[in-house]
Order: sequence, then C-alpha cells, then structure tokens
Amino acid sequence: MSSYHIKNLEEYYQVYRKSVRDPENFWAEIAEEHFVWRKPWNKVLEWDFSKPEVKWFEGAQLNITENCIDRHLATKADKTAIIFEPNDPSEKAQHISYKQLHEKVCAFANVLKDQGIKKGDRVCIYLPMIPELAISVLACARIGAIHSVVFAGFSATALSTRINDCECNMVITSDGSFRGTKKIDLKGIVDEALENTPTIKSVLVVKRTEADIDMKEGRDQWLQPLLDKAEKDCPIEIMDAEDPLFILYTSGSTGKPKGMMHSTAGYMVYSAYTFKNVFQYQEGDVYWCTADIGWITGHSYIVYGPLANGATTVMFEGVPNFPDFGRFWEIIEKHKVNQFYTAPTAIRALAKEKLDYVDNHDLSSLKVLGTVGEPINEEAWHWYNDNIGKKKSPIVDTWWQTETGGIMISPIPYCTPTIPTYATLPLPGIQPALMDEQGKEIKGDQVDGRLCIKFPWPGMARTIWGDHKRYKDTYFSAFENKYFTGDGALRDAVGYYRITGRVDDVIIVSGHNLGTAPIEDAINEHPAVAESAIVGFPHDVKGNALYGYVILKETGESRIHDNLRKEINQIITEHIGPIAKLDKIQFTEGLPKTRSGKIMRRILRKIACKETDNLGDTSTLLNPEVVQEIMDKAL
Ligand code: WTA
Repeated sequence: MSSYHIKNLEEYYQVYRKSVRDPENFWAEIAEEHFVWRKPWNKVLEWDFSKPEVKWFEGAQLNITENCIDRHLATKADKTAIIFEPNDPSEKAQHISYKQLHEKVCAFANVLKDQGIKKGDRVCIYLPMIPELAISVLACARIGAIHSVVFAGFSATALSTRINDCECNMVITSDGSFRGTKKIDLKGIVDEALENTPTIKSVLVVKRTEADIDMKEGRDQWLQPLLDKAEKDCPIEIMDAEDPLFILYTSGSTGKPKGMMHSTAGYMVYSAYTFKNVFQYQEGDVYWCTADIGWITGHSYIVYGPLANGATTVMFEGVPNFPDFGRFWEIIEKHKVNQFYTAPTAIRALAKEKLDYVDNHDLSSLKVLGTVGEPINEEAWHWYNDNIGKKKSPIVDTWWQTETGGIMISPIPYCTPTIPTYATLPLPGIQPALMDEQGKEIKGDQVDGRLCIKFPWPGMARTIWGDHKRYKDTYFSAFENKYFTGDGALRDAVGYYRITGRVDDVIIVSGHNLGTAPIEDAINEHPAVAESAIVGFPHDVKGNALYGYVILKETGESRIHDNLRKEINQIITEHIGPIAKLDKIQFTEGLPKTRSGKIMRRILRKIACKETDNLGDTSTLLNPEVVQEIMDKAL
C-alpha cells in the first residue's frame, strides 16, 4: 500500500523518511495506485540538475482529464464537481456534476478541434472566474493543446506579450467580466492586445455580461452556438508523461515574464497528492480556494488537484467586499465549505472590518483553513484562527511557487502542530536545503539562509518556454546541483521552516509577484522620465506596496508632480495592469549607484521602509551625496 493519505504525525515522519530514502519507489507506488495510465512508465525518474533535465514516469501514457473526470463517472457521475458562485449573490449558484462536466469538457474539446486546434498548439485563455474557465482548461488538456491562462486583470500589453512569447493560435475570452459593482470590458482589452499578435487565428467569446462588443469578421466567434452543435463526447488524446500540459507566466526580477512549462504526469501526481494531504480532503467535503485560475494556485488547487481526487471544488467569480465584507463568510455558510484556502492579503483586509460580518454567519462546517502567496504575519494568523477557525480548524500556511507546481512546505492538518508564521515541514518527497552566500549548505537547526531544493519532485516546472538557458540561469546556477527558490528561510530547533521573503528583485504585493525591472521599463517609457527604481515597503493590507524613485529628464516645478504621478501609474496600468501601481512616487535628482553603475536598491529599500538608522556600507557608492538628498525628501 502506498502512503497516499497521511493521518498522523508519526506516519508523516515515516512516510517522509521513505520518500527521501527511496524517492522513486515512493512516487511510483502513489502513481500506480491512485491514477489511470494508458501505458506504464519505463523509468520513474531521470534527472540532472546541471543541465537541468528532469523526467518523471518516462514512457508512460495518460490523459489528465481521464484522471480528473472520466474515471469518476462510474461511482460519482451525479456528484457535484464544481460549484459556481456568481459575483452577484442574487444570481443562482450552479452545481456542475461530474457527468455534466464530462459533457461540457467534451463539447468544448470538440469545438477546439473543429477550429483546427491540435495537440501541442498553444491556446491562450483570458477569462473571468466563470465555469468556462475551468472547462476550457480541461478541454485543452483533453486534446493535448497547451493552455496558457492569463489572469484577466492583466492589461492588453501584458496579454499580447504572453500570447506572442508562446505563439498562441487562439484566444478564449468573454464579452466582459463582473467584479463587484464593476463591469470590465475584457473583449476590448483582447481586441487591443490582438493588434500585434500575428499567430492568433481565432477568438472564441463566452457571453457573460451581455456587453455590446465588436466581433471581428473571420476571427471572432461566439462560443455557445459552436457548443450547441458539438458532440458531447470526445475521446482523450493519449499523452506522453513529459508532454507539456500548460504554460503559466510568472514575473522575473529581470526582463520579460517567464513562461513556466509544466508537464503532464508529474504535475498530475503532485498536485493531486498534495491536495489530498494538505487539505485532508474526505469524500463528501466541499472545498473552496479563493484564488483565480489565472494563477498557479487556481490551476493546482481549484482545477487539477481537487478534480483528480473526485472532490467538490467551489469557483467564486466575485470579490471579498461585494455586496459587503461578509461575502466570503456568507459563501462558506451557503455551501457548507469544509476547507477554505485564501491569501494573507485577503485576511488582513477583512480583519480590518467589523466582526459582525463574520459573526452573522455559521462557519461550523470548516475543518481546515489555508493560506498561500506570501508570509502571513502573526496578527493576521491569530485573527484567522480565532474568528474564522474558532481555534478548532488548523491553519495550513502553504509555501510554494508557480515553478514548483504544488505545495512544498506546509503543515498537514490534524498531524503537524502549527506555529504562527511557520510553514513548518517539507511535504514527503521534498528535500529543502538552506545555503549560505558562499554556496555552502548550512546544516543544523536555528539557522537561516537561501532556500533551495536538492532533489527533484514530480510537480516541478521543466523549463521556461522557449528559453531553457534562462531556466538554468535563474534556478540552477546560483547553487550547484540545487534548485534555488529566490526565497530566504530559517529552520528552527525542531526542523520547522519559516519563509522570510524574497531575496531577489521580486516584490510580492497582495500575493502577486511583481518584478522590479518590468515596472521600471514601463515607467521609463514616460517621455519625462530619465530613470527609475522600484522597491517594496511594508503595507498593512497588501503585505508590500511599491515605492518608486524617479529621475526626470528636466527638473521642473513641483506642482506638476501630482499629474506626473497619475501618468506614471497610468503607464504601469497599461503595460502590466493595475496590480503593479505605485503607492508612493518620489522624484529625485539621482539614484545611489555602485562604481559599476548598478543601482543600490538595498539603500533605497531602507529609505522606503524608514529604516535609515543603519544604511549599511555606502563606501562603494559612486555618488554618496545623493543618499542624503533622497532621505530628506522621502515620502
Ligand atoms: C511567496 C504562489 C511565505 C514566496 C503559490 C514564493 C510565500 C512566491 C508563501 C511564489 C508562504 C508563497 N509564505 N511566502 N506560505 N507562499 N510565498 O509563484 O516568496 O505566485 O517564492 O506562487 O510567493 O509566488 P507564486
């Protein structure tokens, strides 16, 4: 018997030891007993981090949608697979059974095929959180097309960059989206993006808001009439274990976004295994993750992980404050949610509101609470524990990344004793290492360093689409033979890990990764701007907010600055999206630079964080005098 479902701490340690001693058999047993394969593998694992190359279950054949849908039909055809909770609470929730999901995914897959989409083609999905988002993801996977979901809050420029990077043939979008009281013109954004995307041949449009939109002749089609004509059954495409399943973009500290490529079999096994254990999902439970499917959390823990376990997963279209700040708690009560997974930024925002919003709802169905995306501060942790979990539901603080495909370090609820702000222990199969700046592993307890992973796990991304060298340089070059996460961490006396934050130029704002370089590039497009530098500073809801230092080409009067601030944020919104807007913009005459011309962000960060008592060594600066000027005018 494999150790698919861990039930107590002792078992965790046993399973963990086995997973390190004999990783291949550990994963092979799980893969064999809990999934459907069309052909078994020849070799469980082949790897070489120096290339880097990682292959899991080579030779095996499968289709992930057979595992997420078809195989449940014999016993769970009428069980609800997806509960769709619309933005407006007066609109009826939808319950989509596994049988209905099968029909919908098949019909959509047939439409894709009719439109000429084949195995290996890239399909861009730019949709709000409506059922068609999950269905289109699965429809792509069914026919072996590679989905690239772009979060529908990204701008037209960000969308076209992502479409062009992986040369998508098709975009799936909607006429618009609802977010709280707002109606967003998604199709208009797509039209703008497609002005320079030569590979796009067709656009399928889901009707959601009934907005009056332009349909481009020969390119755009409404989805529904095509679905109505499509067959409700579609055979699976047989995929090789290492065939790409999807591409998902994440920000890097430099340059354009990185298209992380995930492959089929390993990702499936890993997302399913981690879902089962981290949420202790039991048959009949209703599970809800508030993320958007535009992020990795939605891919792994709204769609693939839950469905591979035959779970009921909630998809929520709206926002936490519409119609009021009690919406999350109302939904938990309404659908009797058992596992609830959200982000620290949402918890902090809701904790600021009256407790009545919580206390008006019956939250007694809850068994497990989760958080993800950024470190959770102690205050938010206690608020969540006291008021939402009523001190009865363990909190799983789950650390992982777009690149890792699934949760890596996390408590297993009802097994691992939790401590606020600690992600605690590595999941089975995960071998973390803390490294010092000289590249040596720091052994022992009560230490901190750069967080690396020493051994492959099935869910890891295999490459950056179209740029394997960048994949190697970013993740496998800082430390020999190790995957470098970009995060710092400490390990305490019992081996618990606490993530301390990014050690590179990625800033996490409201749980969204933002690279400094792309934002600076956007700002520098403004005709009045000569140069800029972005750093993060603590924010009580967003975790971090952005502080921009901007040098203007001509030093003008201060009264134009407010307009300029607006224009700079406007440019950022156009290039990236509103999530990357700056909270503070300081105009300055210079930026602290090293003799080699590199901006010393460490100093800028300290000034933004108001930690100017100890600026550290400034002796290597080319222009030390500028530091005082910046400090004097700091916002
Ligand atoms: C951060 C999200 C502290 C971390 C799944 C990581 C966290 C980055 C946690 C990845 C956590 C995620 N505690 N920090 N529990 N979870 N992070 O790619 O810096 O959007 O490297 O994946 O978020 O963000 P991404």
